[in-house]
Amino acid sequence: MDKLRITGGKTLRGRVAVAGAKNAALPALAATLLTGDRVELHNLPRVRDVRTMLRVLAQLGAQAEARPDGGADVRVDRIESFEAPYDLVKTMRASVLVLGPLLARHGRARVSLPGGCALGERPIDLHIEALRKLGAEITLQHGYVEAKARRLRGGRYDFRTKTVTGTENLMMAATLAEGTTILGNCAREPEVIDLARLLGAMGASIHGAGSDEITIEGRERLHGARHRVIPDRIEAGTYLVAGALIGDPVEVTGCDVEAMRPIVRQLEAAGVAIAVEGDALRAGVPAKLTGQDLRTAPHPGYPTDMQAQYMTLMTQAAGTSVVTETVFEHRFMHVGELLRMGADIRIQGRSCVVVGPSRLTGAQVMATDLRASACLVLAALAADGVSVLDRVYHLDRGYEAMEEKLRTLGAEVERIR
Ligand code: UD1
Repeated sequence: MDKLRITGGKTLRGRVAVAGAKNAALPALAATLLTGDRVELHNLPRVRDVRTMLRVLAQLGAQAEARPDGGADVRVDRIESFEAPYDLVKTMRASVLVLGPLLARHGRARVSLPGGCALGERPIDLHIEALRKLGAEITLQHGYVEAKARRLRGGRYDFRTKTVTGTENLMMAATLAEGTTILGNCAREPEVIDLARLLGAMGASIHGAGSDEITIEGRERLHGARHRVIPDRIEAGTYLVAGALIGDPVEVTGCDVEAMRPIVRQLEAAGVAIAVEGDALRAGVPAKLTGQDLRTAPHPGYPTDMQAQYMTLMTQAAGTSVVTETVFEHRFMHVGELLRMGADIRIQGRSCVVVGPSRLTGAQVMATDLRASACLVLAALAADGVSVLDRVYHLDRGYEAMEEKLRTLGAEVERIR
């Protein structure tokens, strides 16, 4: 299993380009199931989750051809299987995004239930409840969701909790339903808007993406399209935190500045000066980094996917900060590892009390999930001495060429096997 060996304390300087957003690429790939025509996707990040989604699609009968720019041309003119099997779904929950499109265009889907994961239970009950509202017959057996519908019918559904992939699944399903669908209490993430843009280019009629209520008028069929996936705001935010920890400065180019406002606002509140120039954001070690409380929330709140990285930053800030996680139940798996590196953090229910600044020292640490591994990389960069991060496959799921990008900035990082 690959590990990363990081020698901390090296000042980071220079420029990195942000990759396409993983969380926009995955629904975009699933959306290709909605048409028999070719869909040309650009700016897909070269990460493991994208390869997993391409495997899911290949299993269903999709023909995908990689493009030299990292994108893919996908065509699904014939479905060979209706099943997203356990082996694939267990490695990536987002495989559940094929449920809506398969059902809408092909009338049938069999998708493994994702089961528990490191972040808590994370059920898909709302996806199922909403699809039933559109007329799907759904049973749960043998660990699978089995769904059928001759043709979905438009209807109204209000999500009890905001769910990103739930909103996306339903938006896709409704594009081919008969009549109009109104979805209430929708997720407002930039990735939802990006998917709506792709679906619009495929001929769907969607209004309100980015607001609480989305209206979709069903169409008989959708057609091929070309689409460029938006930049990854979480990857960009992770490099900005690296800049704030040990940068002189770090510049991240190709950002969607608007989508990054919640992250930028929070970092600025802690004293990090962020310079914006066109689509580039720049951050260095601030004159004074101060403990600043954080509460994660659905967009336009501060993203849960940037909570762990912020906590690493807070270990270096003067004073106490309280980091509260409101989106997922168990998202403090990184705390134990940060403690081993010298941080002072106490978990209290859904909050963590971080007291800084503490001197971090290199240690052997273990990644537990994607964003937790990013926070450990950041801690290792800021620490004295050498750290070895185990289970790097978590990082590879969502960060394109992280060690190369960090090396470009002057970090001492190597991958060991
Ligand atoms: C997506 C992102 C993930 C991010 C998360 C929250 C993708 C591929 N993944 O995950 O990186 O951390 O949004 O921003 O885009 N819930 C239910 N029932 C459901 C669905 C969700 O109770 O049917 C709950 C979840 O347990 C969680 C909350 O709703 O507590 C939000 O989860 P959700 O937005 O669905 O996360 P994902 O879409 O899986």
